Amino acid sequence: MVITAKKVVLFSVLALAFSVAVGKAADAGNAEKPAAAAAADTGAAVVPVTPLAEAGAKQVEVTDASFRCLHEMKKVRSMYVDNLLGDVEGTLAVANAADGGAYPPGSVLQLFPGEVMVKREKGANPASNDWEFFTLDVTAAGAKITQRGFNPEKPVKNIFGTCVSCHSQAAPKWDMVCEKGHGCPPINFPGGINTAVLTTALQKTDKRCPSPEPLTEVEIAELGKLKKLMEAQAAANAGAAAPTGGQQ
Ligand code: HEC
Repeated sequence: MVITAKKVVLFSVLALAFSVAVGKAADAGNAEKPAAAAAADTGAAVVPVTPLAEAGAKQVEVTDASFRCLHEMKKVRSMYVDNLLGDVEGTLAVANAADGGAYPPGSVLQLFPGEVMVKREKGANPASNDWEFFTLDVTAAGAKITQRGFNPEKPVKNIFGTCVSCHSQAAPKWDMVCEKGHGCPPINFPGGINTAVLTTALQKTDKRCPSPEPLTEVEIAELGKLKKLMEAQAAANAGAAAPTGGQQ
C-alpha cells in the first residue's frame, strides 16, 4: 500500500481542525499529537502584507486574539458571525438579507471552531472578494492561527480541499459564503458520519467556551466516528513515516 505525502498532509489538517472536539468528547487519547503535527506541517504562514489594499481603507488586523468562543458570536442559521471593526450590525444585515450582498470589512464567519473566513479591508485581495481564510488550533487558552492566506495564491486547506475551491462556487450574490443552497459542493465526512449532527457537536465542544453545552447521545456517537477516522489516518500516517524517512 502506498501512502502518499498528500494523505499525510490531509491527515494533519483533519487533526488540526477537529482534534478539539474529539479530545473533549471522547477520551483525550492522542488528540494533541496530530494537532502538533499539523502545526509543524503548515509552517510559518504569516501574511501581513496587503499590497493591493486601497489607500485609506481601514486595515483589518487579524491575530490569534481576534477570535473567540463561537457562542459569544452571533448565530445565524448554522454559522456564527462577528466583526473585528465593531460593525457586527453590518455583518448581520448581510447575513440576514434574503438576497445576499457583500459582507462589510471586518466580518468574521465560522462554522467549525477551527476554520474561519475574515473579510479584510477593501482591495486586500480582489480574487477572493477580500476574504482571507484561516485554520486555527483551538484550546481552552484560545486560538492559534495555523494557516492563513488569500486563496488562490496561498491556498489554505482542510481535508476536503482548498477553502476557495468550494467557497468560490457560491453564486456571486452570496459573496463566497456557502451555507446551504448557495452553489458550493457540500461538506461530507467519510466513515458514515452524519455531517449535520457532527457540525453541531463540534460547535458545542468549542474548547474556548466556558461552559460547553451538553451533547446528545447522537452527537457523541458522531464524535466517536470522527475519532475513529482520525485514528485510522494516524495509523496510516505512522506507517508511511518510517519507510519514507529511511529511503529518501
Ligand atoms: C468541500 C467544500 C468545502 C471546503 C474545501 C471548505 N468549505 Fe467551508 N463550507 C462549505 C460548505 C458547503 C459550507 C456550508 C455548510 C452548511 O452551512 O451546512 C461551508 C461553511 C463554511 C463557513 C461558514 C460560512 C459559509 O460559507 O457557509 C466558513 C467560515 C467556512 N466554511 C470556512 C472554510 C475554510 C476556512 C476552509 C478551508 C480551511 C473551508 N471552509 C473549506 C464547503 C467547503
